[in-house]
Parts: sequence; structure tokens; C-alpha cells
Amino acid sequence: MIHSRIAGTGSHLPEKVLTNFDLEKMVDTSDEWIRTRTGIERRHVAADGETTVDLAEFAARRALDAAGLAPGDVDFIAFGTTTPDLVFPNCGVLLQARLGCRNVPAFSVETACAGFMYALSIADKYVRCGEAKRALVVGAETLSRITDWSDRSTAVLFADGAGAVVLEPGSEPGVLSTHLHADGHYKDLLYCGGGVSRGFGPKLTINMSGNEVFKVAVTKLGQAVDEALAANGLDRSALDWLVPHQANIRIIQATARKLDMPMERVVVTVQEHGNTSAASVPLALDVAVRDGRIKRGDLLLLEAFGGGFTWGSALVRY
Ligand code: UT7
Repeated sequence: MIHSRIAGTGSHLPEKVLTNFDLEKMVDTSDEWIRTRTGIERRHVAADGETTVDLAEFAARRALDAAGLAPGDVDFIAFGTTTPDLVFPNCGVLLQARLGCRNVPAFSVETACAGFMYALSIADKYVRCGEAKRALVVGAETLSRITDWSDRSTAVLFADGAGAVVLEPGSEPGVLSTHLHADGHYKDLLYCGGGVSRGFGPKLTINMSGNEVFKVAVTKLGQAVDEALAANGLDRSALDWLVPHQANIRIIQATARKLDMPMERVVVTVQEHGNTSAASVPLALDVAVRDGRIKRGDLLLLEAFGGGFTWGSALVRY
């Protein structure tokens, strides 16, 4: 039986940094409020002209290097983003053109902060059924382009970045399970109010009922981690690491409490880059792999939650 395993990880953040103190000069907020309510200390913002695919290319090349593969070896690209460079071609295809792996499937999924989880789940299925052997899975965003920098309720949260993993076939499980969910009933709590068919309007920016999103996120992520463990017949004590969506330290702490996990076993990077949506889980994973916390053989629980709502988990033997 074929399984998929993570052969390499990579990430990239744009050079420009905005600290909480910088934001104090832009909107009515404070470093203290942002840190205590969200855990965020700084975020990275793309330069003028720097695009989602630019960030993704760095992350993808790093993941391929880590896997010992050349860009031309990739035979499948799944790309999660809600901030694409163009309406079409999709970001997967734009990335493919840069990597030079012609003729292989390349697509993007726009499931907001759960974009990487959806892309990972699809790629895992293709590797497991033998149709892909070196699948590149990317989450990348330039949310700064759809942030209303005069709205303190969202400007302090969202930012830019990219993360990627390479999946390869293995004889032992790797990705043990993925679970995906969506509930469009909640579409009005978190959305970007414009698009091609409705029109872009004067302001193409993120709108969020933060407090309500917070409550649903805690509930759904709690259910998602239970679901992942139950599907694998595992107790929460079996987990080595929680690699959560980096939206808010208080949501992360709530999920850790639900799993009875000490925060030392939770990968937290939100302080460094804020909420980078589809990029946040692969970014956090790459940081903890590269600094040596996550080791081969560790059992990881990945999860994310975002606009739609969309959410999902992956249980992974790294
Ligand atoms: O990744 C996609 C999913 N997104 C999320 O998971 C985000 C979920 N939501 C959150 O993380 C939190 O709800 C927020 C960080 C967005 C807000 O935190 P909160 O503790 O839920 O605050 P709140 O919205 O209830 O607002 C509390 C107060 C309000 O003032 P009053 O009405 O109590 O006087 C807000 O106006 O904080 C005020 N406030 C701010 N104050 C200073 C809101 N934003 C700010 C700000 N600086 N940036």
C-alpha cells in the first residue's frame, strides 16, 4: 500500500516588517492590546510589486532543496491562496512556469485560511493512489493587498508569507489522515467584499466579526482535533506536536487545552508574522522542522480554520 510522506518543508517571509509600534502610528491601537488579545508582535508585508507567487517560489524551492529534489522533478502542484496574482492563470500554474515542471497538473484552491489543509488533503490522495510521486503543496498569501489599513479590527491581524511541503510516496504512513469541513452558513462573518462577478467596488478589503469568528473557531477546531484522533484510534497523549493555524494565541491555547498539551509542545509563530492565512500552517511547520524541534518520526496534528467557514486537520507522522 502506498502512503504519502512529507519529504521536505520550506517557507518565506517578505523582507519588510511592520511592528505593533508602527501600527500605533497608523490606527487607534496599542502594542499592549495587540499582544494580549492576539499574541502578534510583528508581521511581514510584501513590497510594491511583490506577489503571492514570488513568495511561494522561495518557499517551494526551499522545500524542494530539503527534499533533495530539483524543481523539474515536481509532478503535481496544489496551491492554497485567497490572494492570487491574477484571476487566471491560477497561482499553481504561475508557479509551475517558474519551476519548469511543464505538463503536470497545477491548480489553486481558495479556501481562505484552510487553503493549505485542502491542498494537502488533495495532494495526499493523488500520491496515495499512485498518480503523483513528487507533489508540491503550497500555502501563500499577500493579505496586505486586501487589508483596510485604516480599520484597526483587521489591520493588526493579517499579513503576508508562504510555506510549502513536498509529498512523496512511502511504504510507512506519513500523512495518516486528513479531514476537511466547510459551512457556508457563516459566510457573512469573515469575507472579502468584492470579486469578478459581483464587481470589485471601491474597497476590496477583509471584513470580519472577530468575536463571533473566535467562538466558532474554538469550537470547530476542538471538534476537528477530536475527529482526527478518533479516526486513527489514538489518544491525545500520542501526539508530539500541535502545529496550529496562527491566527490568535488565545485560539491556539484553547485548542492546546482541549488536547491537554503543554504549550512547549505547540508550535507558535504568530508573534513573528501575524495571520498569514493559507501560509500559516506550512510556515509554522517549516520553522519547527528547521530549528530541530520537530524530528523524523514525531506525530504532528496540523489544523486550520478560516473564512467560509472552512476548516480541516491533518494527522502526520513526520
Ligand atoms: O484566520 C481566520 C480566522 N480568524 C480568526 O480566527 C480571528 C478570530 N478573532 C480574533 O482573533 C479576535 O476576536 C480579535 C483579535 C479579532 C478581537 O479580539 P476580541 O478579544 O474578540 O476583541 P473584541 O472584538 O471583542 O473587541 C474588544 C474591544 C472593543 O472595544 P469596546 O467595544 O470593548 O470598547 C474593540 O473596539 O477592543 C476594541 N478593539 C481594539 N482596541 C485596540 C478592536 N480592535 C482593536 C485594536 N486595538 N486593534
